Amino acid sequence: MASDANGSTREIFLSDVIGGLSKSRKRLEPKYFYDARGAELFNQICQLDAYYPTRTETGILDTNADDIAHYLGTDAVLVEYGAGSLEKVRILLDAISNPVALIAVDISADQLDRAANDVRAAYPELEVLHVAADFTRPVDLPEPARVGGNPVVFFPGSTIGNFDPDDAIEFMVGARDTVGPGGMLLIGVDLKKDSARLEIAYDDPAGVTAAFNLNLLTRINRELGGDFDLDTFNHVARYNTNLGRIEMHLKSTKAQTVTINGQPFDFAEGETIHTENSYKYSIEEFQALAERAGFKPMQVWTDAENLFAVHLFKVAADTS
Ligand code: TRP
Repeated sequence: MASDANGSTREIFLSDVIGGLSKSRKRLEPKYFYDARGAELFNQICQLDAYYPTRTETGILDTNADDIAHYLGTDAVLVEYGAGSLEKVRILLDAISNPVALIAVDISADQLDRAANDVRAAYPELEVLHVAADFTRPVDLPEPARVGGNPVVFFPGSTIGNFDPDDAIEFMVGARDTVGPGGMLLIGVDLKKDSARLEIAYDDPAGVTAAFNLNLLTRINRELGGDFDLDTFNHVARYNTNLGRIEMHLKSTKAQTVTINGQPFDFAEGETIHTENSYKYSIEEFQALAERAGFKPMQVWTDAENLFAVHLFKVAADTS
């Protein structure tokens, strides 16, 4: 988004930032993390020892690829949201018999272009379509040229955990409408676990996650004429046991006024900007959520330590 920002995307970013910082509890939307630098830092997070979800989910997909492929059937059409580097979907593409098309959706246009080209080169028979779009809103998807088998939404990375539960249901209703009858949802969901393990995953010793969170302020400074002093904000990640979610904040270390596009925002010492939630669900909790969106559980795969779950759902017969 950074590189192709036209007037209107900047205006929307500005009004979202002004709106979020004008609330009594200041907020910024996590989708704005992913400028070019943010996407790069996020890829680094995924490789950290402390950040177990990526390698755990990849391991689950690897171990169970044939079983998953059996459920998805032949000639599947895959739709991936939050496609990022398009690494995980290759495990599916390698295991499915004759996948027909991959439609990749992500907010980070630069990264998506590159990743889609890499997949095209590696899978010459596959039709790869990609759309740079904000998938927290409905997206118009392109039609593949060939008619395929089952349409499958692939939503890895526990990105569903970054929605509030009501928004997660709304997103899954959208996914259900996208795939239609006979369609499926293959979705990665981080499991509940002890808070120390969770907190270190979102506040790693090398400070990469802190840099990722703080990059949002750098982006506001650059794109919206902000004057955040990065030395006076700290990254904070804590597990909210009641709500079952990691909360990430940026905490002002002193009382100060920050100006954005000429508009002042006051911070008290210790006041935070809430930037992200990452909800954790037990298997049963998540199945109940998906059922409310009109999906029926088909299978679920986990790792030996029970850190992460990959769920498969199909569109329930009595909806659609
Ligand atoms: N879906 C990922 C998660 O909630 C996104 C994520 C991982 C993330 N690490 C992060 C988001 C650090 C912000 C900051 O686990």
